[in-house]
Amino acid sequence: MLSYRHGFHAGNHADVFKHLVLTLLVRSLLRKEKPFFYLDTHAAAGRYDLGSAMARKNREYETGIVPLWKVKDGPEAVRAYLEAVRALNPDGKPRFYPGSPRIVRHYLRPGDRMALCELHPNEVKTLGDEFAGDKQVKIHHLDGYQALKALLPPPERRGLVLIDPAFELSDERRRLLDALKEGYRRWATGIFAAWYPIQDRATADEFLRRFKKSGIHNVLAAEFSILDYDGTLRLNGSGMVIINPPWKLEEDLRSLLPWLWEKLAADGQGMWRVEWLVGE
Ligand SMILES: C[S@@+](CC[C@H](N)C(=O)[O-])C[C@H]1O[C@@H](n2cnc3c(N)ncnc32)[C@H](O)[C@@H]1O
Repeated sequence: MLSYRHGFHAGNHADVFKHLVLTLLVRSLLRKEKPFFYLDTHAAAGRYDLGSAMARKNREYETGIVPLWKVKDGPEAVRAYLEAVRALNPDGKPRFYPGSPRIVRHYLRPGDRMALCELHPNEVKTLGDEFAGDKQVKIHHLDGYQALKALLPPPERRGLVLIDPAFELSDERRRLLDALKEGYRRWATGIFAAWYPIQDRATADEFLRRFKKSGIHNVLAAEFSILDYDGTLRLNGSGMVIINPPWKLEEDLRSLLPWLWEKLAADGQGMWRVEWLVGE
């Protein structure tokens, strides 16, 4: 049973962190003319109305996009990401928030291609409406983990896979790691980025320990939290593991994340870090 709906969380601090990293990754692919492929294994709805009852239930967007919306300066990644958010809000008010597919679509060139997988029937329908008639976007009502087997390696031989599960299942971290191993086995030169929630340190550390032993090379990990890990099991922060990170990503994250922490963290709580999990 799928009950997770991303609309409750759209635009929160974890979404902003993830979408900023995604923006950096996609823009790195634009440095070469050769077309690229983007696979989003857990795509959700693609666009969210922050005025909807779902979004307003806990107003999570107030921990992320709302404080960032008016920013005019900041690192280049922030300006680029906000450009994608503003593209949905031409009247200047932050009403619609782009999901990962919309953010990447903002940057796709005519020769580039994306595949989006989503299992929830309502979400996949909304996603289909969002990209109706768009020939560069293919939507699959399919298990994203299966898609890694079916769609990789892509003929383009360059590109990015985002794995962003809902973490409803108790063994999701194991499934995620198994899927990454499989994806990496099929396409060792692709960029893979996977998101994970951090409620407590121990669970995140155990996941990273397993990752180090996975046999996957060239892995950068970045984490960002706005609240302390003080034993309260809420979404204090989140992390991303990036396989085959592009040149300069580490440097970009080291200037982006302290800036973001200054803007979003609650009264000096939380932390950020960037670390090589496994070298080349
Ligand atoms: C965290 S949301 C994705 C958010 C999206 N990537 C973004 O950044 O805008 C996770 C989504 O995965 C979907 N889902 C859960 N299990 C899945 C599976 N095995 N394959 C594909 N989608 C799945 C859920 O229905 C949910 O919409």
